[in-house]
Amino acid sequence: MFWRMLLKASIVAALSAFPAAAPAQQLVNGYEPKWWKEAVVYQVYPRSFQDSNGDGIGDLPGITSRLDYLQKLGVAVIWLSPHFDSPNADNGYDIRDYRKVMTEFGTMADFDTLLAGIKQRHMRLIIDLVVNHTSDENKWFVESRRSRTNPYRDFYIWRPGKTAPDGTRTPPNNYPSYFSGSAWTLDPKTNEYYLHYFAAKQPDLNWTNPKVREEVYSLMRFWLDKGVSGFRMDVIPLISKPTGMPDLTAEQLKAPPNAYANGPHLAEYLREMNHDVLSKYDDMSVGEATGTTLAQENSLVDDRRHELNMIFNFDAIKLGRSDFGPSQLGSWSLPELKAIYDAHATVLTKHDWDTVFLSNHDNPRIVSTFGNDSQATRVPCAKLFETMILTLRGTPFLYEGDELGMTDYPFKKLEDYDDISIKNAYKAEVETGKISAADFLAAQAKVSRDNARTPMQWNSSPEAGFTTSAHPWLAVNPNYKQINAEQEESDSASVLNYVRALIKLRAGTLAFVYGDFKDLDPQHPQVFAYTRTLGKEQYLVVENFSSSPVHYTLPESLKAATLLLSDLPDSHEASTSTLNLGAWESRIYKQ
Ligand code: GLC
Ligand code: CA
Repeated sequence: MFWRMLLKASIVAALSAFPAAAPAQQLVNGYEPKWWKEAVVYQVYPRSFQDSNGDGIGDLPGITSRLDYLQKLGVAVIWLSPHFDSPNADNGYDIRDYRKVMTEFGTMADFDTLLAGIKQRHMRLIIDLVVNHTSDENKWFVESRRSRTNPYRDFYIWRPGKTAPDGTRTPPNNYPSYFSGSAWTLDPKTNEYYLHYFAAKQPDLNWTNPKVREEVYSLMRFWLDKGVSGFRMDVIPLISKPTGMPDLTAEQLKAPPNAYANGPHLAEYLREMNHDVLSKYDDMSVGEATGTTLAQENSLVDDRRHELNMIFNFDAIKLGRSDFGPSQLGSWSLPELKAIYDAHATVLTKHDWDTVFLSNHDNPRIVSTFGNDSQATRVPCAKLFETMILTLRGTPFLYEGDELGMTDYPFKKLEDYDDISIKNAYKAEVETGKISAADFLAAQAKVSRDNARTPMQWNSSPEAGFTTSAHPWLAVNPNYKQINAEQEESDSASVLNYVRALIKLRAGTLAFVYGDFKDLDPQHPQVFAYTRTLGKEQYLVVENFSSSPVHYTLPESLKAATLLLSDLPDSHEASTSTLNLGAWESRIYKQ
């Protein structure tokens, strides 16, 4: 496969390693310019990125050792998944001590070194804020469960539950947990139930208690004062619980996150957090908006409301499948995917800001899920999705390994997995006979979160250069000899080199940040063609979402003018309105 990049001299001149900052205060196409609108964000899952001490677990010094790689990639912001002290029931999303670094990941000094290294390279760091729940080993919960009168009792949500005439105890309501079973666990010590939307080891905090909120704001200040540039807020719409917490109806039980999310006090809490903390720093906030519809999105991110800067809306990434319980890979069509981005462009206003992403640590790999990871198509396919993510409207979020076109892992048996959600679902679904083990495992192999969590593939040495241990915490994908950063570094046609060029192009082109978006052909089943327009500048992006080549005639008498970026040798067609696109080919033109 050949690859070529054609950059016009004028554009090359405008390119820089960092996003071009628009003049302060002046609106750009109606948008207030902000560094986080212009940034490309890269998510690091510390456990899987780089092990530095041979224990098979990624760690902070490992990340520090890879900062040159990230700088060369051109990303402006690193989002670090939880690095806090945790018993790891859910890989760090269960925090025992918010002010301490997880022992396996290193020390606070290692964190400081990492942060300094990031800043030295003119990048920024955002961290995960996981405050819907804590670990049951957090000192607040340890106290809370001691007695009904403990000063920390009200830090969590305790209820007596129901008692049948025969003395049988049942939970206060029918809430299911994201990780299977009831969302309530009876704690024998005080004989009451506590609420946990996730695992039993992740009790939900009681946000109606002002002391809880003050503790959260205080820990946020602790990290902001250290110099982090903001937060990715874990399941943030869940912090305000439904009034009275009545049973979910049969309809609501089909999609519990919609019932759980965006409770009556959410806006109030977010504004308080913004007023007391966020507004005092030059930071960014992005909320993981589980259970949030597009219509609810602009009430969370409208800049006149002073709540959040951005959210992750899951419409695209979960297309055709559910975001609750053990889901299956669903079917989807390109017009459906386009309709999601089209709706975002219509519903969100110039006061809102969007995110674009198709991957994270909770979802399978992009090429395997949305494309075709066969040997013949993996490379153009990975390039196509990166092209789309980096040219649609909204701040792009890339997940580690996307830039290499990493693929799903060939999971076969339950023991291949680490994720608590799979283990719990297996008990709830297979061990109760609801589904056969074979069907369950076949479905999970395609949707499991562990697909994204296999170690980064750095080179072709044993364990892909991730660790010197023969036993990484999760197995390395056996395809690491073909797919790894070192090999891609030396291959000018690689996904890695393409993504670098793409990030550079975006960084020098404000039209990709603030420009208007127009889908040229919403119904076309195979091609996604759109323009980004800022003033007189217009860019055209054309993507063939298929393994079959296509002759595509541009609508609206548009002509493809100057080719800026493409991945196939025959892409260099003269100015034309009919394009011959190869399998999964994507191109960017300047009009
Ligand atoms: C979020 C995280 C996920 C975690 C869950 C509970 O969805 O992204 O990894 O399991 O919250 O904290
Ligand atoms: Ca380690």
